[in-house]
Amino acid sequence: MALTYSSTQHIVVLTGAGISAESGLGTFRDHGGLWEQHSVYDVATPEAFARDPELVQRFYNARRRQLADVEPNFAHRALAELEQTHAVSIITQNIDDLHERAGSTRVLHLHGELTKARSTVDPELIYDIGYAPITPEERCVLGSPLRPHVVWFGELVPMIEVAMEVASQADYLLVIGTSLQVYPAAGLVDYVAPGVPITVIDPGEPAQVQGAQVIRKTACEGMREWLQHLR
Ligand code: APR
Repeated sequence: MALTYSSTQHIVVLTGAGISAESGLGTFRDHGGLWEQHSVYDVATPEAFARDPELVQRFYNARRRQLADVEPNFAHRALAELEQTHAVSIITQNIDDLHERAGSTRVLHLHGELTKARSTVDPELIYDIGYAPITPEERCVLGSPLRPHVVWFGELVPMIEVAMEVASQADYLLVIGTSLQVYPAAGLVDYVAPGVPITVIDPGEPAQVQGAQVIRKTACEGMREWLQHLR
């Protein structure tokens, strides 16, 4: 990701599961969310994968299949359109590809990407798989099984340093649809320079971000309101 921009105002957007909720993808911690239906320890840790790879693959294969059937919503599209007038960097915790499908060109995935698989022995061996399932027979070029290209609980977040650098270069920070309960992602709000305006869009109990303006609306409604302020 390039770190210098030609436009004068650099808008950094930190997104979470809430931005994709109106597209039909569930969030994690809301009532009825994914982590109410599945235990993190069964499907989203390296230990879970070592213990029961089929269960973990089934969980992610189902999510990949679901992703193929949904579309970006107004909030994703508005962020993509914003690139016509501003330098926009999106840092997303989401593993869906809805920002890219909406047309955003600078998207940093902190927690990996559902549409990619990677080798279980060499993390540099990453494969585009689109919305297809990962099967037990599939192997990387070294002959090892594939795993989802996602960051599980207990794993390092390789992109965090790049994300910190991007956040530190923000002229404006927009936070959409994240409970900010998971670190190190949640700590990114502390990397923006003092005095940089921050807006949080969230219809629920919005994350506490010091000095932030809060728009207590869904991602789509909140984006409409925020765009009016911007203009
Ligand atoms: N529009 C905007 N925000 C919404 C909407 C909506 N329509 N619906 C719900 N939200 C808000 C909720 O109020 C909540 O604050 O989205 C947030 C979702 O929070 P989480 O479910 O905790 O999701 P997120 O913050 O993205 O989780 C972070 O946790 O399990 C991990 O790896 C997973 O990347 C994920 C990380």
